Amino acid sequence: MQTNHFRNLCLVVLAATQVVCVSAQKTKTIAQKVDSVLQLMTLEEKIGQLNQYSGDWSHTGPITKDGDKQSQIKKGQLGSMLNIVGVEHTRTLQELAMQSRLKIPLLFGQDVIHGLKTTFPIPLAEAASWDLPAIERSARIAAKEAAASGIHWTFAPMVDIARDPRWGRVMEGAGEDPYLGSAIAKARVKGFQGNGLGSLDAVMACAKHFAAYGAAVGGRDYNSVDMSERLLHEVYLPPFKAALDAGVATFMNSFNDLNGVPATGNRYLQRTLLKERWKFKGFVVSDWGSVGEMIAHGYVQDNREAAKAAITAGSDMDMESRSYIQHLADLFKQKQVPIVLVDDAVRRILTKKFEMGLFDDPFRFSNAQREKIVWNDPAHKAAALDMARKSIVLLKNEQALLPIQASVKKVALIGPFMKAVRDNLGFWSYEWPDDSTTIVTQYDGIVRRLPKDAIVHYAKGCNINDADSAGFAAAIAAAKDADLVIMSMGEARDMSGEAKSRSSIQLPGLQEALIKAIHATGKPVVLLMNAGRPLIFNWAADHVPAIVCTWWLGTQAGDAIGDVLFGQYNPSGKLPMTFPRSEGQIPIYYNYYNTGRPAKDENNLFYVSAYIDLPNSPKFPFGYGLSYTHFQYAPMQLSDTVLKGNQTLTVKVRVRNEGKYDGEEVVQLYLRDVTASVVRPVKELKGFQKIFLKAGETKEVVFQVKTDDLRFYNQTVQHIWEPGEFHVMVGTSSAQVETRKINWQQ
Ligand code: NOJ
Repeated sequence: MQTNHFRNLCLVVLAATQVVCVSAQKTKTIAQKVDSVLQLMTLEEKIGQLNQYSGDWSHTGPITKDGDKQSQIKKGQLGSMLNIVGVEHTRTLQELAMQSRLKIPLLFGQDVIHGLKTTFPIPLAEAASWDLPAIERSARIAAKEAAASGIHWTFAPMVDIARDPRWGRVMEGAGEDPYLGSAIAKARVKGFQGNGLGSLDAVMACAKHFAAYGAAVGGRDYNSVDMSERLLHEVYLPPFKAALDAGVATFMNSFNDLNGVPATGNRYLQRTLLKERWKFKGFVVSDWGSVGEMIAHGYVQDNREAAKAAITAGSDMDMESRSYIQHLADLFKQKQVPIVLVDDAVRRILTKKFEMGLFDDPFRFSNAQREKIVWNDPAHKAAALDMARKSIVLLKNEQALLPIQASVKKVALIGPFMKAVRDNLGFWSYEWPDDSTTIVTQYDGIVRRLPKDAIVHYAKGCNINDADSAGFAAAIAAAKDADLVIMSMGEARDMSGEAKSRSSIQLPGLQEALIKAIHATGKPVVLLMNAGRPLIFNWAADHVPAIVCTWWLGTQAGDAIGDVLFGQYNPSGKLPMTFPRSEGQIPIYYNYYNTGRPAKDENNLFYVSAYIDLPNSPKFPFGYGLSYTHFQYAPMQLSDTVLKGNQTLTVKVRVRNEGKYDGEEVVQLYLRDVTASVVRPVKELKGFQKIFLKAGETKEVVFQVKTDDLRFYNQTVQHIWEPGEFHVMVGTSSAQVETRKINWQQ
């Protein structure tokens, strides 16, 4: 169907330039419409579509002070903007785009990573829920709020696998595992894109950062990556492929170089793999300034060469480096860049603009009334609470200290996070004028669940990250006069995130000293750990009886924590990332190779692959998390122990809730290929199911294993499976499984 704006566009151009526009009747498919717009475009207008600038609503990268963006929009020199939020602002800029010769609408992109107005838990926390429908719903709501305020495109999900908790951006992803990461990538893409591009409540998703950004050497952000092609395919690429299979509209490349070639200029990644082999039809945006940063990498000499390398490699849109807008036209004129490359990139971008319905109505996402209604939808708050409760991981609970019993009448609430407001939101969150009333503090969440006659002492005790111990005395006094102490400690909101790598991931400041001082009072302590990454808190882990990993839970943090502490919600989260004992163990992950000299016994380290000063095992393993109840696993039942060819192995396990609380359990299935033509990890997650069991209830969980689950990348990077012995493991965490052997023949 010919659209109004599109028809107008044709008429305007017809009048102005006498260019013959493809008629309404003939332009049926989006591809045809795109082609007809392309025919109308000058080289400069085409290059304009490939250019993206940041606005000033928020700053998410180094700021370039330059010319007048508004006049560039009017000249058609800009295809997209980021960091413009709100219908008012997006409308104003879109109106400028409507003054350009071809009136091609702008795309507005934004880092809507875990919510916009309603802040959900950080993505790593959500991953701890292992609850795919809940994660999808969180992305769905984020998309609704974003789309209602003029945003067309979120730079999410971040699907980088991360095995190094020093890297600050682990907070933004789904952790260390490619299987879980792929499932979550799919859920998030489905959530953001809803019923498909063009729906008024859907935004384009963006799988980032392509690729292997999470493997930055030393966990230092933006650092180099060097890895085998096998590792790339096996561990780092699967979540990207999953996002693509879920229909993700865009990809973002990454800051790192991969095996010596910056991802932005990496032709293998973007053209050969993504666009040719995977047949990706959307477009690739560079990361902020990453086209120009290829100069600092030492890959190109100047911005002109950078533009050539990036467009040749398949980076379609230049975020913030200005290399395309400044050099592509000349590169074309000097026959350095063929027009087909430019046309291909423009086509991809225009296609998305058509699919989003922007040629029908460039202002369709800019409706002030809708923005107000959607932003105040009470269902969003309820979903944020549900997601936050599900994201919490119970790490330790000695003598069933939790849930808090009714006999507790005097409580001491201590720590720099107790009354904190925005620190609950974590990195990649936005600040709103009503934050102090909409964000539920942990103090409020706890106090409102205590009996009316309870006595509450509050003491901040210390700050998050300094050497001031002036508050210790008051905190100790508060603890001494309490039946129970709850301490809320951890990392400030800006200590994990982009450019927030830490060489030490211990509790900052004097927090550990305060925990020791409070513990010395002899009072039972519950420790809440607020963080954007796995932290190291060995002393507390060894001495404090109850520890709850709360991550950064978002707007509803206080109520979610309150519900868990008082047993209104039985914690069900499982760690999506390994918690090390020491930074010296990093990188640390559960799916490691056995080596030729595995350390089988931590007491016998004679010439084995081990550290002489600490065990190989982590402090808390991948997949680990406690419940207030106890789940008993019966021995697994296998349909066969010898299988052939394309048979299916059925694995059944009966799980019984033996405690007195209803609860959820994540039943995990791992496989190991014992001998293969390339060595295989000691275990790999291949399935999981989150089940709810009433107290006393038993459920049977069934997994179907197929030969596809046995596949791996061999020496020539083919995805194959080889017959032989396999271990099938089922259990409650990666470190607590029952193992059975099977033989799978050709
Ligand atoms: C740089 C980050 O790496 C990327 O993830 C983000 O989307 C852009 N900045 C835009 O803010």
